[in-house]
Amino acid sequence: MLTLSVIKADVGGYVGHSSMHPDLESKAREELAKAQQSGLLIDFHVTHAGDDLQLIMTHELGEDSTDVHRLAWETFEACTAVAKSLKLYGAGQDLLVDAFSGNVKGQGPGVAEMAFTERPSEPVIVFMADKTAAGAWNLPIYRMFADPFNTAGLVIAPTLQEGFRFEVHDVMENKRIFFDCPEDTYALLAFIGAPARYTLRAVYSRANGEVAAVSSTQRLALIAGRYVGKDDPVCVVRCQGNFPAVGVVLEPFTHPHIVEGWMRGSHCGPLMPCALRDCQPRRFDGPPRVIGAGFQLANGKLVGPVDMFDDPSFDEARHTASMVADYLRRHGPFEPHRLPLAEMEYTTMPQLMKKLADRWESLDGKEARKVEAVKSRRGRY
Ligand code: 13P
Ligand code: 13P
Ligand code: MG
Ligand code: MG
Repeated sequence: MLTLSVIKADVGGYVGHSSMHPDLESKAREELAKAQQSGLLIDFHVTHAGDDLQLIMTHELGEDSTDVHRLAWETFEACTAVAKSLKLYGAGQDLLVDAFSGNVKGQGPGVAEMAFTERPSEPVIVFMADKTAAGAWNLPIYRMFADPFNTAGLVIAPTLQEGFRFEVHDVMENKRIFFDCPEDTYALLAFIGAPARYTLRAVYSRANGEVAAVSSTQRLALIAGRYVGKDDPVCVVRCQGNFPAVGVVLEPFTHPHIVEGWMRGSHCGPLMPCALRDCQPRRFDGPPRVIGAGFQLANGKLVGPVDMFDDPSFDEARHTASMVADYLRRHGPFEPHRLPLAEMEYTTMPQLMKKLADRWESLDGKEARKVEAVKSRRGRY
């Protein structure tokens, strides 16, 4: 079995949160090359999405391998040292603990891993986003694997007609549920339409049980208990054969859907698909970006990448994203451009609440009683 591990972290931005200094990538390549020489990795590719360092690795040690996770952690530490020497912004931002403890999950970095037997031809796409949160993949993954208006194969390819199984995580309660589509479609949508809480973790083919897609669901703010930057998630999708074709895996990104993130992780904005070279979110630290690196796997070797959104047929999506960005920006600090209060609790609002606590005066009387009634009703959900 081959394992494809994508592990990422923000270990320092250049300039601000907009991009990555080339020395960080060089350092990461140096570290991973050593691991390849020692036989730990079969192959690797290092890239970045905005200010997030992406380690794409193949090996035979399975998911959650301590050796591979330690390698990623130590690589991030080595890159943090480079970032500190250059005084890059937020050096070591996503390394939330002082010492590695066996698995990077819950320690800050984002992880998407899948183990499978390599097919005679194995096209995979690694999607990487910056300035957004883990639930950002819910809508595009739904479209790829459950929407017949997006994915022609669900209608016309016998290999896809049995549908797909979706694994959804409740990131607040730390539990999971599986939905079988098409029959569970409406129930699935009831949950994943609320991506701040319910995130699509994985998709499996119902024809043979094989893993089709995995995403990183780690929510930094919930791990850290405070705002430390956005999750900037990754997602790996296998294509063709029993899975959707490359072209339909890309198709959902022609609609730059609204995601949370952007400036200070506290706003919503359109997810703009772009070429690797354009993944440098600058306007209001955004708008949020997604890149796609396509590979053919050959005995574990990562043949590629092909820059999947470096294609003029995505120009219109980029243009739409810019227009939506203009429109939303004009709301300034008002909702819904700024995130709703419940979400702000995981970002910058708690400090402000604390600061102003003494200046609030209570109101007595009728209105207060009505508010109490509303609050107790709300508590029921
Ligand atoms: P080709 O005929 O170019 O191989 O494409 C086949 C296909 O299924 C495209 O989605
Ligand atoms: P990152 O999560 O990409 O570090 O962005 C943080 C931020 O606050 C941008 O304004
Ligand atoms: Mg950053
Ligand atoms: Mg980032």
